Amino acid sequence: MPIDFHSKANRYTYAGRRADPSWKAAIQEIVDVRGKDVLDVGCGGGIYCRAFAEMGAKRVTGIDFSKEMIRAAQEKSKDYPQIAFFVGDALDTRLPGSQYDVILERALIHHVTDLEACFREAYRLLKPQGVFIVQSRTLKNILQPPNEHHIRGYFFEVYPKLVDKEAGRRPDSQTVKETLLKAGFRTVDEKELCETRKIYSDLEELKKDLSARTGRSILHELTDPELERLIQHISERLRQRCTKEIIEQDYWTVWAAKKA
Ligand SMILES: C[S@@+](CC[C@H](N)C(=O)[O-])C[C@H]1O[C@@H](n2cnc3c(N)ncnc32)[C@H](O)[C@@H]1O
Repeated sequence: MPIDFHSKANRYTYAGRRADPSWKAAIQEIVDVRGKDVLDVGCGGGIYCRAFAEMGAKRVTGIDFSKEMIRAAQEKSKDYPQIAFFVGDALDTRLPGSQYDVILERALIHHVTDLEACFREAYRLLKPQGVFIVQSRTLKNILQPPNEHHIRGYFFEVYPKLVDKEAGRRPDSQTVKETLLKAGFRTVDEKELCETRKIYSDLEELKKDLSARTGRSILHELTDPELERLIQHISERLRQRCTKEIIEQDYWTVWAAKKA
């Protein structure tokens, strides 16, 4: 069953992590966010809103269509007076136009029903010369082989049916680029990113994270017994290789589009 973003049970699923310093560095390389007005669309529990604030953004706005996500984001961002959160849809945010220097849509576009409407809305919200950053996984990213860092790779090794699920919902690079240009953006740059997702002190901590399906919508497609089998498989693979902390990394594609 697909993840229900609106369920109270999933309130904290995108709230507990911290963005890795390497993510901040990769974004800062695309655009200097210091002193800027930033919008994070589909912000979940605000992990990347807090990262932008820590990077020196003047004002950060997080928007998500799930009241539960926004509740968690507000709770976790109490110490960040420069961040404000709103409930709203990425396709029609109802926020005033031309007010943001930078917009991020991270791990969002495979969930939206109309990519062009989503990108048109981002274009409307950006100031002239504003930068729109889309971070998502293409099928090429997903099919990277599993190892002690690329834990997600095991999901697809054990359950090839999950590849079909991803293939059905992940736009390819060409589609993302063409849709950005169609929405009005003048230039689109693309780069690959290997993001450190989380560092676990040991295998037990990783197993707990996987059992809770934390921050991994694809695991909601598995039944409890299927998930149990997957965790067992991962444990067996990693037990041979990992004696200490586990550094989990994910492969991503990042598109940076500029408004004229
Ligand atoms: C996979 S999570 C990513 C959360 C956050 N961007 C991150 O990277 O940690 C996707 C988020 O997008 C939100 N979402 C999905 N469709 C949306 C839409 N049409 N409008 C606004 N938010 C949406 C979900 O509620 C969820 O919080």
